[in-house]
Amino acid sequence: MGSGGREHALAWKLAQSPTLDTLFAAPGNPGIAEHATIAELDVTDHRAVVDFVRRHRVGLVVIGPEAPLVDGLADNIRSIGVPVFGPGREAAKLEGSKGFTKDLCARMGIPTARYFRVTSKDGALACLDDFGEACVIKADGLAAGKGVVVATTRAEAEAAIADLYAHGPVEAVIEEMLEGPEASLFVLSDGTTTAAFGSAQDHKRVGDGDTGPNTGGMGAYSPAAVLTPELEERALGEIVRPTIDCLAASGTPYVGVLYAGLMLTADGPKLIEYNVRFGDPECQVLMMRYTGDLAALLLAVSEGRLADVPAPEFSDDVALTVVMAAENYPGTPRTGGTIAGIDAAQAEGAVVFQAGTALKDGQLVSAGGRVLAVTATGTDVPAAQRAAYAAVEKVDFPTGFFRRDIGAKAVIDG
Ligand code: AMP
Ligand code: GLY
Repeated sequence: MGSGGREHALAWKLAQSPTLDTLFAAPGNPGIAEHATIAELDVTDHRAVVDFVRRHRVGLVVIGPEAPLVDGLADNIRSIGVPVFGPGREAAKLEGSKGFTKDLCARMGIPTARYFRVTSKDGALACLDDFGEACVIKADGLAAGKGVVVATTRAEAEAAIADLYAHGPVEAVIEEMLEGPEASLFVLSDGTTTAAFGSAQDHKRVGDGDTGPNTGGMGAYSPAAVLTPELEERALGEIVRPTIDCLAASGTPYVGVLYAGLMLTADGPKLIEYNVRFGDPECQVLMMRYTGDLAALLLAVSEGRLADVPAPEFSDDVALTVVMAAENYPGTPRTGGTIAGIDAAQAEGAVVFQAGTALKDGQLVSAGGRVLAVTATGTDVPAAQRAAYAAVEKVDFPTGFFRRDIGAKAVIDG
């Protein structure tokens, strides 16, 4: 379920699974339609989704995006006995409510930024004294990457708080600013057993050199070398496993993939945030490297059998993806721009995952902010970079743009 580049990558890999019979996608996109039968479904209509699952005897539902998870779609499908890859409403609060996650961390002693939960402007202003000059202000709920302000001066923090409370009371978290390189760790959980599922580094700002506004992600590569095996073990033991244990003990077990956004501080890994699904475009690079039968693995996760299957395996190659976005993204993107050259881009092993695309009179056109994720592999970051950018050059998308420095940080640091 879903319609973005993440779901195209999942569909592409699921379609290669020897254990798969039929793949349906809802609502899908033209790229996904190359691997799956599109189900004409309103995915916000849970009853229609459940009816479809029952009528077509679906054996596993994989939910891509966070919104339906936070809405309880996984619970509604599980209620008819069908396995679902994705957490229920209660466990999805790890992404749906920053305050919920911070309180869980406090209860379990999980390393994260020191914080206050606030509900009013005065309450928010009152805690600024506690943080010196820098702090981070976060709206509580789902905000598609737009609800966070990292303020480096008191004036910036006050302006962000004024903005947040311009239309009345809202829940928010004010927290300490952490410093260090960021990395994303992906972990499968069947409710009790966990299995690491790779790491990646995202590029959130729209412009080269990490400039301009935040986006959903303009590119990524995997693995993230900054997350050494030792740091990964610490993050699993100190952050992820206590979280999974806490939810299991509360009777709301976490089933699906948990995406931990980590800051690798001088004191060790600390949790920045959780997402309750794969990252987009991090999923694209993970799927390029995963070598197993994805349908079998996700079914094992969804049926509580993770302990009985081999640990997920990945190729040693680096995968790197460059997002091609539509003019004016992350503002209102220009749609309807023609796209060609995908076959040429894929001729040498790159894969072009489609995100915001549509077919208009048989012509592929842009239909969203992030339009394509051009993905390639190589023996190291520079090789993957060369392969991905060579493929980008073959794509003819005159109203699109992309960052030219995806992976550059890894090359400089590593
Ligand atoms: P989030 O939506 O929570 O991932 O936040 C978006 C981005 O804001 C993160 O990827 C970080 O770069 C930054 N950020 C969030 N929280 C903090 C923090 N406590 N300290 C420093 N940077 C942060
Ligand atoms: N690329 C960041 C995210 O999926 O949230």
